[in-house]
This record gives sequence, structure tokens and C-alpha cells, in this order.
Amino acid sequence: MIKRVNFQYTEDITVVNREQFEVHIRLYDGYVNKINEIDGILQNKPGREEANATFSFYRECKRGETFALNGVILHELYFENLGGGGGMNTPNPSVTEQIEMDFGSYALWKEDFVATAKASRGWAILIYDQRSYRLRNISLDSHDLGNIAYSAPILVLDVYEHAYFLQYADKKTEYINRFMEDINWEVVGQRMGIY
Ligand SMILES: [Fe+2]
Repeated sequence: MIKRVNFQYTEDITVVNREQFEVHIRLYDGYVNKINEIDGILQNKPGREEANATFSFYRECKRGETFALNGVILHELYFENLGGGGGMNTPNPSVTEQIEMDFGSYALWKEDFVATAKASRGWAILIYDQRSYRLRNISLDSHDLGNIAYSAPILVLDVYEHAYFLQYADKKTEYINRFMEDINWEVVGQRMGIY
């Protein structure tokens, strides 16, 4: 059984207002409920004999499993790395050093991350590629579409319309720009510190 994380809106979160945040939390709760529902179904080993890649019940379960669990994980990482409003909205030296090594400068990384977010339908993620020991900005069009195997998400930005439309309507760029000023770099540093 996967338990939901009880995220609270705080004054440090400046990229979205409380209403936008709480609507988004309800969507996150939906993914937690769905992965638990799917896990419950899979425990009963339904239709394994008839599993088929064109269409089968087992296929739907497995597709739903990846989508729902990634939906849970990516939302948790996103909510956790919000809230740089408390004055910690600059990366720590070890993160800065890695960014400069892999992107040339912080400004060049930011330019690429913002462009990646604008180009994405689902998520923009700064990942640490454990195969090549380097950072990379990646674009996901869906929870289960575009993930890089053997990589670790360091900074996660939700660019699904549900993440900003209530507050920003079609002003996606404004949402992205305000996110860039609201990154909790302390959390990002902790994630990076593992590698
Ligand atoms: Fe979302």
C-alpha cells in the first residue's frame, strides 16, 4: 500500500496560489489511489494467460501501473522542490559546480531548462545520468513517456496544463519563469548529494 505524502501550502511557495496548489494535490491523491487499486488487482494475477501486447487486460494493468506510479513519484518530487521563497533560491556550490561543468554556466543551464519546459507537454526534469555521470534536462510528454533509464531526477517541473491553468490560464511562460524563482535549491542539493 502506497501512502500519500501530506503536502501543505506554505508562504515560501510563490509560483502558485493556494487554490491552484490544492487542486493539484487532489490530482496527486488520484494517482495514489489508482496505483493502490492497480496493485490490488495485480495481486490476484488477473488474465496472465491472455496477456497480449496489442490488447489485453494485463497490458492495461501494466500500462496503468507505470503511468500511475510515475505520476505519484514525479508529483512528490515536484511539490518537494517548490518553495524557494524563503531565501534559499540559489543552488549550493556543489550543484553549481556540476551545472557549470555540464552546461557551461548557470545561465546556460537555466536557458535550456526553460526551453525544455516550454517544449514539454508533461514534465521538464533536470536529471543526473548515472550512466555518464552528468546532468541533463529532459522532456516528458507524459508520466510514462520520455524517462531516461538509470537516471535520477534532481529538479522536477510539472508543465501539464492542470499545474497552472487555473491561475495562469494560457500564460505558460509566466508560470515557468515564476517557478525558476521558486526552486527549493536545498532540496535539489540534498538529491544531488547522493551522487
Ligand atoms: Fe501535475
